[in-house]
Amino acid sequence: MDAAYKRINRDNPTLDNGTQRRGSMYLEEETSAKSGEVSCFFSLKEEVGALAKALRLFEEKGVNLKHIESRPSRKNSQEFEFFISVDTSSSKALDEVIEGLRTEISGHVHELSRNKQKDTVPWFPNHIQDLDRFANQILSYGSELDADHPGFTDPVYRARRKEFADIAYSYRHGQVIPKVEYTAEEKETWSTVFRELKTLYPTHACREHNRVFPLLEKYCGYRQDNIPQLEDISCYLQSCTGFRLRPVAGLLSSRDFLAGLAFRVFHSTQYIRHASRPMYTPEPDICHELLGHVPLFADPTFAQFSQEIGLASLGAPDEYIERLATVYWFTVEFGLCKQGNEIRAYGAGLLSSFGELQYCLTDKPQVQPFDPMKTSLQKYPVTEFQPMYFVAESFDDAKEKVRKFADTIPRPFSMRYNAYTQSIEVVNNTQQLRNLADSISGEIGILCNALRKMQ
Ligand SMILES: [Fe+2]
Repeated sequence: MDAAYKRINRDNPTLDNGTQRRGSMYLEEETSAKSGEVSCFFSLKEEVGALAKALRLFEEKGVNLKHIESRPSRKNSQEFEFFISVDTSSSKALDEVIEGLRTEISGHVHELSRNKQKDTVPWFPNHIQDLDRFANQILSYGSELDADHPGFTDPVYRARRKEFADIAYSYRHGQVIPKVEYTAEEKETWSTVFRELKTLYPTHACREHNRVFPLLEKYCGYRQDNIPQLEDISCYLQSCTGFRLRPVAGLLSSRDFLAGLAFRVFHSTQYIRHASRPMYTPEPDICHELLGHVPLFADPTFAQFSQEIGLASLGAPDEYIERLATVYWFTVEFGLCKQGNEIRAYGAGLLSSFGELQYCLTDKPQVQPFDPMKTSLQKYPVTEFQPMYFVAESFDDAKEKVRKFADTIPRPFSMRYNAYTQSIEVVNNTQQLRNLADSISGEIGILCNALRKMQ
């Protein structure tokens, strides 16, 4: 479930499991950063006992070193430089150590600085399995409903919602998504939504949606009298683009939801809206996910575009998460795109709303070209039709623009997604650069070979 635009103040999960499981360099560094690490850098004259004197100061002040390394000074061949790290809990005592280094070992301390940069990088999942660690940290909904929800006073509906929430809470990556026996009333609700929307798709939906929809009818049980199963759809999407579904009980934070996209995982609800108002839902439900989102995730270019937004979010500062969530809102949820001489809808919020799908292509709303730098700052309402839409030239064009926008996000490292291991690789050493170059070289070889054969 997406559309999570409220920030949550949750504790970042600790990283012990991830670090031990894979021994990733980044996670080890980040583990230190999250536990609160202060690093210092100083130099000492190369003489017998200089380091021992310095270390005695740490001992006397009760400062436990977590890390120390040394190298010959580049500035002065008579000196050695030392890089040390301690817990932030020792920060005050470290001040006293620093003072001691400056005064008691006078003349030996030439440079001293603190580096807290690593503390500023928020935790992010490193491996697809790490999604298990926040999938249940939902902001709202689940089995709890707001007072203005159509099902708020319906005990049967609320009990049903709890069943769906329990499936999501119990789910772990790699498991088969439990199939659900939908009730006759639930099927009737689906039937109404399916029938009405399907009449609009040929004239309002983008060509990618219209291309995939018949395939979903053929392979995934999309029918007016049948609510398709998440597991069947997830398997189908994996065969098309590697995207998969994961059941979720309610709204995730923007950071968590976007992180799922980085691994080509879409958090999807499994419950359906209340039967009393089949054409209205205050929250994403299975009609929204399956009719709006799923067809586009079967398109390779759109899948890549969605993953780009997700990758851009990993480790990004909070203000950029908000901007990326806004980009997501105006594209994946409410995006329009040019197709020939026409404008069509590709956003799931439009493709799952009978009213707004018609409205968005009239001359009533404002329309602007998609530009992440500007789009990401646009305010929007969440409970009414959008007064403004952004039009993409194409998914490829939108993807390139998101990539350029992502380059402006302050992050002290580069990263790439390794589809073989389903993990994020932080590219920060020569071996990883070599691996990346090998990978690109292999792809270029295939390209050249194919071009030769085509000629
Ligand atoms: Fe959505």
